[in-house]
Formats: sequence, structure tokens, C-alpha cells
Amino acid sequence: MADYPPISEQLDDLESARVEGHRKMDWARQHMPIMTTIQEEFVADKPLSGQRIGMAMHVEAKTAVLVETLAEGGAEVAVTGCNPLSTHDDVSAALDEHPNITCYAKRGVDDEGYYEAIESVIDLEPTITVDDGMDMVAAIHEDHPELIETVVGGCEETTTGVHRLRAMDADGALDYPVFAVNDTPMKRLFDNVHGTGESSLATIAMTTNLSWAGKNVVVGGYGYCGKGVAKKAAGQNANVIVTEVEPRRALEAHMEGYDVMPMAEAAEVGDVFITTTGNRDVITGEHFEVMKDGVLLANAGHFDVEVNLNELADLAVAERDARDGVHEYEMKDGRRLNVIAEGRLVNLAAPIALGHPVEVMDQSFGVQSVCVREMVENGEQYDAGVHDVPDELDKEIAEIKLDADGVEFDSLTDEQEEYLGSWQHGT
Ligand code: NAI
Repeated sequence: MADYPPISEQLDDLESARVEGHRKMDWARQHMPIMTTIQEEFVADKPLSGQRIGMAMHVEAKTAVLVETLAEGGAEVAVTGCNPLSTHDDVSAALDEHPNITCYAKRGVDDEGYYEAIESVIDLEPTITVDDGMDMVAAIHEDHPELIETVVGGCEETTTGVHRLRAMDADGALDYPVFAVNDTPMKRLFDNVHGTGESSLATIAMTTNLSWAGKNVVVGGYGYCGKGVAKKAAGQNANVIVTEVEPRRALEAHMEGYDVMPMAEAAEVGDVFITTTGNRDVITGEHFEVMKDGVLLANAGHFDVEVNLNELADLAVAERDARDGVHEYEMKDGRRLNVIAEGRLVNLAAPIALGHPVEVMDQSFGVQSVCVREMVENGEQYDAGVHDVPDELDKEIAEIKLDADGVEFDSLTDEQEEYLGSWQHGT
């Protein structure tokens, strides 16, 4: 048995934390029509009765609505964070108050506490796992393989988690089915693009109190997140420079009108650097050596490996916190390089970070909820491995959202359906 305690046993002023946590959740819920609809269905039908759900997610207000929805669906839920800096303790405390939820997430835990909390979640012996980054799946496979037999399946929220799962699957090491929630249109085209773009830029601006206008903003990686960051930065009158390693993505950025160049060149001209690659060592010592005085360095990828902070610390002659969430490294020639949120995903880990806009997470967590329901109802139909989310589930979420927003759209006539399904109609 792990002995890492729930958040309620860790906070001094538990009552006021809970009040504030509930206030944040109320605000999120008010702007989550998809989750409200699903929660009503789950309360009425209890589709998750008898399930034990183990989760490692960013514990803040929107995620809390997901956790609550799964609990209201009849499951017993244990949850912890998926990043040591993204937890809101007040929300964590409010969640832990729910009779079917135990919440272990605490902001600022050290590595040991982070992994002990995951162990405490695993004590629940989950039948379903919900991950953001795959740490829960990894811990179960590596340290508790005896539990796999009773796991029905899992859901993975982010690109990095899906990459890790696919690598595990390719090695034949993934022993239960997991939905790649990240890869659905309703998640990736909105959350990764608009969510990461808006919230990363907003967080950097609020953390530094600096403007985007006229700045050279270097976006490392032009995938879904990079596209969002580039688009929103351009919309704030920045000059966007993209670095890439994939030729078609580099070409796409070029055709969008952005400057594309290697990081070695971008390092010399950039004012703000935002990495969104899911890869390590995108910005390293050779780049720090040539950067301008005063640059801002931020990462929006899942892990804190994109900006090599060890190499930066080795080059620095002095370090200090220039502001809350901004750590300044002084080079021996006097240049100052500023790292935001310790190089952890900036839109969730900076002190004032709130993560993605509520509406965006309503969609992502809508998909999560119906994927958990699908795993519970039809889990036996899925072999061990990574699975695409069935398209009808993704469409179900889009339809709820359009309905909530009062947007009507067309449907195919029978003749159109027949035409689209036929190979015989030529010129
Ligand atoms: P993606 O796979 O669509 O894009 C990543 C891009 O980075 C690819 O085009 C790839 O070619 C490029 N890349 C890889 N190594 C590179 C290098 N050394 N230099 C330049 N480019 C390089 O992935 P997506 O969906 O954009 O996700 C990126 C990361 O962001 C992942 O770690 C994901 O988990 C995370 N993420 C973060 C969110 C947040 O809230 N901050 C939200 C969603 C995803």
C-alpha cells in the first residue's frame, strides 16, 4: 500500500481551499455545455457503475468537471496530477470532498511525491485509466503488471502520451487497449491548435507583462500546437519564425508566409522562443551562446526537455528569479536569458497559468467522457494496443456543441449519400 495522503490531509486551511475550488469549478461548469449534457446523462444512467477509474491529469477546474462527471456516472475515482506544477490545490481539495473521488494532486510536489501519488491512485486497482502523458499506464505496466488482468482499458489525452503508447505498442509491451483521444478531430483541431495557441501566448504575456507586437517569435515545431501558437502570435502582430525537422510541415509553414529556418539561425534573431515539438533538446547550448540579451524562453510541449536547462545553467554565471515564473540566467558576457515556468508546459505550469480556455476543454473532456463510457460498455471488443476513437463518438460531441451554440447545419440527402458511396458516377 502506498502511503501518500490525499490533498485533504495535506492542506492547512482546507475549508477555504474547498470554497475557492468549488467557485472555480462552478465557473468552468457554466461554460461547459457538452460536459453538462454528458453529466446529466451519466447521472441518469450511471453507465460507469462498479468501475474504478485511476487518473493522472492536470488537476485544475476544467479537469475537475471531467473527474466529477466520471464519478457522477457511478465510478469510484482516484486522481493525481500529471505535472508537478499544474495542480490547483484548491480545486484538488474541492474534488477530494466528493464521496466517490480521492484526489492526491498537490502543486509543487517533488519527483518522489509525484510518483508516490501515482502509486496511491494505483492502490484503487483501476479498471479504467485516464492519462495525460501516459505516466499511469507506465506505472501499472512496470510496477503492477498483476493488475492488468482486471483493467478494461484506458484513454490518453495528449500527443506525447499517444507517441509513448504507440512506441510501447510497437514493442509489444502494451497489454490493454487505450484510446488515442488526442488524435480525434474534436480534440486535436481545437485543443492543440486554438487552446495551446491562445493559452500559451496569454500566459507568457501575463507572466512577463511584455507585448508581442513587433517581436520575433520563434516557434519550435509546426505541428498542431505550433500552428496554433504561430497563428495567434501573428495575430498579435509578431513576426513569426518557424523551425521544423519534417519537410512537409516546414513547407506548410513557409506557404503560410512564416519565415522558416534552422534553430541555429533563429537563435540569433528571436526575441521569444516557444517550443511545441514533444521532442528533447530543441534549444541547447549552441543556441544560448548566440541569443540576444533579454530573450524569453518558453515550452508548450508536454515534458520539460525541449529547452535544455542543464546546459543553460552550465553556461550561466548567475541566476535569479526576475519575476514570478521568470528565471533569469546571466551569461558571462552579461546577456540575460529568461526561462518561463522552469521550461515546463507554460500554459499550465506558470504561476498564473489557467490552461486552455474552458470551451476548448469542454470538447476534449467530452470526448474523454464518451471514450470512458465506450470502454466500459464495449471494452471486450478492443484488443490490447492503441485504438483510434470511433468516429461516431467524436461526431456525438460535435453535435452536442453545435446544438448548445444554436448552430444548425445540413445533412446529406439519400441521393448524395448514394453518390458519395458509388464508384460508378464518372464524367
Ligand atoms: P505534432 O506531432 O503535431 O507536432 C510536433 C511537431 O514538432 C512535428 O511537426 C515535428 O516534426 C516537430 N519536431 C519534432 N522535433 C523537432 C525539432 N527538434 N525541431 C523542430 N521541430 C521538431 O504534436 P502536437 O500535437 O503539436 O503536440 C506537441 C507537444 O505539445 C506534445 O508534447 C503534446 O503532448 C503537447 N501538447 C501540449 C498542450 C498544452 O496544453 N501545452 C496541448 C496539447 C499538446
